[in-house]
Amino acid sequence: MAFKNQYEFICLALIIFMVGALACEATSRTLQDAAMYERHEQWMAQYGRVYKGNNEREQRFNIFKENVARIDSFNNANDKTYKLGVNQFADLTNEEFTASRNGFKGHMYSNSNNVVTNFKYENVTALPSRVTWRKKGAVTPVKDQGQCAMEGITKLTTGKLISLSEQELVDCDTKGEDQGCEGGTMEDAFKFIKQNKGLTTESNYPYKGINGTCNPHKEADHAASINGYEQVPANSESALQKAVAHQPVSVAIDSGAFEFRFYSRGVFTGDCGTNLDHGVTVVGYGVDHHGTKFWLVKNSWGGEWGEHGYIRMQRDVDAEEGLCGIAMGASYPTA
Ligand SMILES: *[C@@H]1O[C@H](CO)[C@@H](O)[C@H](O)[C@H]1NC(C)=O
Ligand SMILES: *[C@@H]1O[C@H](CO)[C@@H](O)[C@H](O)[C@H]1NC(C)=O
Repeated sequence: MAFKNQYEFICLALIIFMVGALACEATSRTLQDAAMYERHEQWMAQYGRVYKGNNEREQRFNIFKENVARIDSFNNANDKTYKLGVNQFADLTNEEFTASRNGFKGHMYSNSNNVVTNFKYENVTALPSRVTWRKKGAVTPVKDQGQCAMEGITKLTTGKLISLSEQELVDCDTKGEDQGCEGGTMEDAFKFIKQNKGLTTESNYPYKGINGTCNPHKEADHAASINGYEQVPANSESALQKAVAHQPVSVAIDSGAFEFRFYSRGVFTGDCGTNLDHGVTVVGYGVDHHGTKFWLVKNSWGGEWGEHGYIRMQRDVDAEEGLCGIAMGASYPTA
């Protein structure tokens, strides 16, 4: 091939180069997509996810891809005290996730609306710097109970470690605020348990994840009961610490943040708001090896979420509500 002049040669070279660059970019994009597709497939197998057809699969793949890219870039930035992980929620959008998992829907709940009549740990001093009820055997294993979870009353009040039936609570407590799976606060649950004169065990009345018909259990079957509950004065992490030093405490938090949903390990520091939408249990507190203070929190999203179902959340933050509002609506059952 003969070129009439140098200009023509440069032009052709440029065109070849550009086509090459484009092809290269396209190939690398396809390779990235193929790797992501493979990752999605493995994830589907791991979590037993099945889609209705190619359309749904494509749609879920795109959401998965976006979530995974965001998780990877968070972890690569390496500038936080915690890491994210690609867990069972990876093919859901934020909206879908919020709608499906959170039990406090539309129900802003915080102790500051109520008058705290009694806080028996008020005058407690000389608290230990570390507490974990998990090691003391007062906490049942983590369950995956979606939005209907409530920590059972523990060894502390019964002397026995029994997994209580949350399904009994969901099916039978349909009065008032505590509308089965559709919401309800820890306090409503405590009130119900008191009226119901206890709850039966998980094995007597297993969890189904849906509203069922109430199958009332004889009082004799009840494995545990409570006399009542008390609130921790709102917006005080030091009051919360006093309570947790004595027993596990139910709290409401804002669980809506992307980083909370995909939390995998370390001390979670946010971001998150104070729109209380989820009930969890604080089962201890401590300080990590970097000196960061944390609450040890038991979640109900299964053992593969977070640190074997638990999350360590930063403690004694600048805001009085605590991280994610953890100090806004805390209460505990009384024996
Ligand atoms: C704490 O101490 C104050 C002042 O002595 C007292 O009035 C209050 O009743 C005590 N609270 C409890 C729960 O014992
Ligand atoms: C569960 O029960 C509540 C209250 O009766 C009802 O509003 C809700 O739609 C039910 N949810 C499901 C998933 O059946």
